[in-house]
Amino acid sequence: MIAGSLFSGVLLAFPCLVTVGIYIGLNAQSIFNSGFKGSYGVPTDLSNRTIVETNRYCQKAFGITPSPGQYTFNPNQWGLSASDASSLCMNITTDNRVSDSSRAASSFSATWQYPPGPETMPVHAFPNVKLVDNSSIPVTLSEFSGLNIDVKWSYNGGNAASNSTDQSSLRTAGLNANVAVDMFLAADKTKSGSTTDAQHEVMVWLGRWGVSTQPIGYPLGSKDAFAIDGVRFDLYTGSNSFGQKVWTWVAAKNATTFAGDVGPLITRLSNKGGPATSDYLGYVGFGTEAYNSAANVTFYVPQLSLKVSKKS
Ligand SMILES: *[C@@H]1O[C@H](CO)[C@@H](O)[C@H](O)[C@H]1NC(C)=O
Ligand SMILES: *[C@@H]1O[C@H](CO)[C@@H](O)[C@H](O)[C@H]1NC(C)=O
Ligand SMILES: *[C@@H]1O[C@H](CO)[C@@H](O)[C@H](O)[C@H]1NC(C)=O
Ligand SMILES: *[C@@H]1O[C@H](CO)[C@@H](O)[C@H](O)[C@H]1NC(C)=O
Ligand SMILES: *[C@@H]1O[C@H](CO)[C@@H](O)[C@H](O)[C@H]1NC(C)=O
Ligand SMILES: *[C@@H]1O[C@H](CO)[C@@H](O)[C@H](O)[C@H]1NC(C)=O
Repeated sequence: MIAGSLFSGVLLAFPCLVTVGIYIGLNAQSIFNSGFKGSYGVPTDLSNRTIVETNRYCQKAFGITPSPGQYTFNPNQWGLSASDASSLCMNITTDNRVSDSSRAASSFSATWQYPPGPETMPVHAFPNVKLVDNSSIPVTLSEFSGLNIDVKWSYNGGNAASNSTDQSSLRTAGLNANVAVDMFLAADKTKSGSTTDAQHEVMVWLGRWGVSTQPIGYPLGSKDAFAIDGVRFDLYTGSNSFGQKVWTWVAAKNATTFAGDVGPLITRLSNKGGPATSDYLGYVGFGTEAYNSAANVTFYVPQLSLKVSKKS
């Protein structure tokens, strides 16, 4: 167990309820996708961004917060056993054209390979980018008005980043992984920022590969469904080994381009035993839970912005 790292994903069975319906959310605000222009202060023409440099980080866990400091990146190999060597490297490309007020994260990739872990602890790492924005989080759900995510990502077999996903290369590699937004909530403001002390973990899976990659509560079926940006999400729930309630919304397709407000996926949980309106959202991250792969695979995120909004 590595201090300060993320925890997730122990498979436990819990009683299920039934799917109660599908709602369509028409609230996509985007920087990179769908033609939305600049309200978060990013350059609207990304083709002109000047690359400063790419650095590679192969540490087990190490926080990197490039200027202007809105996001912290971490290879976050929290699930390595004592004998496991690091077999993940994260590349982070910084860009001096991004202004201090920008919501755009530096682009990054993670190349990795791990053998299957035990069924009780199948995840080896969560290379991720975490939102660092103390003006918007922690926020109580009664003050919270939305979490806009605008992202483009890809996954491929091999060591190279590509803007498209070649599914056959992933089948050849035997990829087991998800691509997910990871959030934590708690009644206590400080605990809401802790991946181990928070009472609730809410995940939104935008991609999913392999039979090992199951959300907690998956065998017991979907408890709810909701659609955002044309993507249907099904809800699975249960508890993890830290006693946290885990709420996982799984996309019905691999959503490699996504722009929308996932706020309803948090607030809809309040009447299902999920976070209360007085609870704080204190942690928002985006990355890939690396379960296992027989050959190197590369996750690439050329475009990402995360924005938590408050009611005015
Ligand atoms: C991008 O670069 C081109 C060529 O230098 C220039 O014409 C264009 O105005 C630039 N766009 C932005 C948004 O800076
Ligand atoms: C991926 O594979 C190559 C060669 O097979 C190896 O040298 C490299 O270290 C591996 N891992 C990463 C993270 O690139
Ligand atoms: C946010 O963090 C900055 C830098 O650490 C600090 O100066 C500022 O007071 C903090 N703001 C809030 C609202 O906590
Ligand atoms: C990451 O950086 C290393 C070192 O510069 C480079 O060899 C590798 O190709 C890069 N990987 C990706 C996916 O860009
Ligand atoms: C992905 O697309 C962006 C925008 O066109 C481009 O700047 C970047 O170099 C591309 N990345 C790769 C790995 O081809
Ligand atoms: C994502 O793509 C892979 C490969 O085609 C497929 O096996 C998997 O089922 C897809 N996941 C979803 C949620 O569509």
